[in-house]
Amino acid sequence: MSIVSIDGLTKRFGGVIAVDRVSLDIGGGEFVALLGPSGCGKTTTLRCVAGLESPDEGTIRLGAGTVVDRSRRYELPPHKRDIGMVFQSYALWPHMSVIQNVSYPLRLKRQRKQAARAKAMEALELVGLGNYASRSVSALSGGQQQRVALARALVREPSVLLLDEPLSNLDAALRTQMRGELKRIHEQTGSTMVYVTHDQEEAVSMSDRIAVMHDGRAVQIGTPREVFDSPSARWTAEFLGYENILPGLVGAAADGHARVRPDGWDTSLTCTRTAGCAAGDRVWLAIRSTAIVFDHSDSVDRPNRLDVKVLRSTFLGTATEHEVDAFGSRLVAKQIVGGGRPAAPQGADAVVWIEPDQIALIPAKDEPATAERAAAELAAAKGRVS
Ligand SMILES: Nc1ncnc2c1ncn2[C@@H]1O[C@H](COP(=O)(O)OP(=O)(O)O)[C@@H](O)[C@H]1O
Ligand SMILES: [Mg+2]
Repeated sequence: MSIVSIDGLTKRFGGVIAVDRVSLDIGGGEFVALLGPSGCGKTTTLRCVAGLESPDEGTIRLGAGTVVDRSRRYELPPHKRDIGMVFQSYALWPHMSVIQNVSYPLRLKRQRKQAARAKAMEALELVGLGNYASRSVSALSGGQQQRVALARALVREPSVLLLDEPLSNLDAALRTQMRGELKRIHEQTGSTMVYVTHDQEEAVSMSDRIAVMHDGRAVQIGTPREVFDSPSARWTAEFLGYENILPGLVGAAADGHARVRPDGWDTSLTCTRTAGCAAGDRVWLAIRSTAIVFDHSDSVDRPNRLDVKVLRSTFLGTATEHEVDAFGSRLVAKQIVGGGRPAAPQGADAVVWIEPDQIALIPAKDEPATAERAAAELAAAKGRVS
């Protein structure tokens, strides 16, 4: 059963559509990330769930109860919703001690002091701050303050925890450590978590599912694998770091195999991630730079072997990035240091090959419909392949 159910959620600020018909069901105990670039509507979506923002359209259910139903002009006030929230800024009371901060939500609910303190201690133990109860929060490091904020959100044992970029004020090492901690707390408490981030690694490493957001819309929802391996739109592929995106035409498709000819090429590529494409469909071929591999073998029967010219090689420390020309298209091939023999030198001819299941086909008909946008994207693609 879903614990959070968002249906047709829309929120406008003047002329800006911050959230555009978002629908999302989140199951009990699930960890779901809202992932997208700055300004795509992640925070606004979360604030609508929390009741800090009043949506223009849609319904939101938490557990069995409806908390927002715009068609009936119904909204449950935030303090009556069974949620906890953690913000990027910790929003702690600087003049209070750690335990006073954490027990505050319970005191607000008129719990007796001793009971509230006992609960707060439990929450502090959970986040690893059992020994810091009597400290002043202003004497704590950023990472510790974030844990206090987390403990304060957990203390009421909310059925849903909403987290808005909670780690972005921490330095890189601490962020990685806190990811592990959050995952542990998620497993230990079994609580449902909705986690807003623009950081792909964060989303992938912690989430059961990811909702990718773009321009206020949830453009793709799936497991990290589904989303990363099979982006459903060109924008998503670009956002998720596919360096090579070529326009092409499906020549034949059957039994989970497709032959697809990138525009301007003399040859077709074999693809096994066909995304339901049929012969005659216009598609984008999305290929990660690491999937274009230099082939020093004589295995002529290997699929997707291409004669290329190495245009430029750049050493990046842990990898070398090669720009190669294939049938007039400029491709980026990245070779991890230690990942096989070096490529041919700059200016030389070489052979690369692409594993058929490393090419994600994206139906081009699903692209944003406006003519200008389509033209701009095509121009961008041409720039890349010329
Ligand atoms: N209170 C507000 N008033 C006006 N515009 C807002 C307000 N809050 C958010 N927006 C706009 O709504 C869009 C989505 O913002 P937000 O949800 O904060 O994005 P994200 O969290 O993904 O960075 C942005 O264009 C932002 O400028
Ligand atoms: Mg935000």
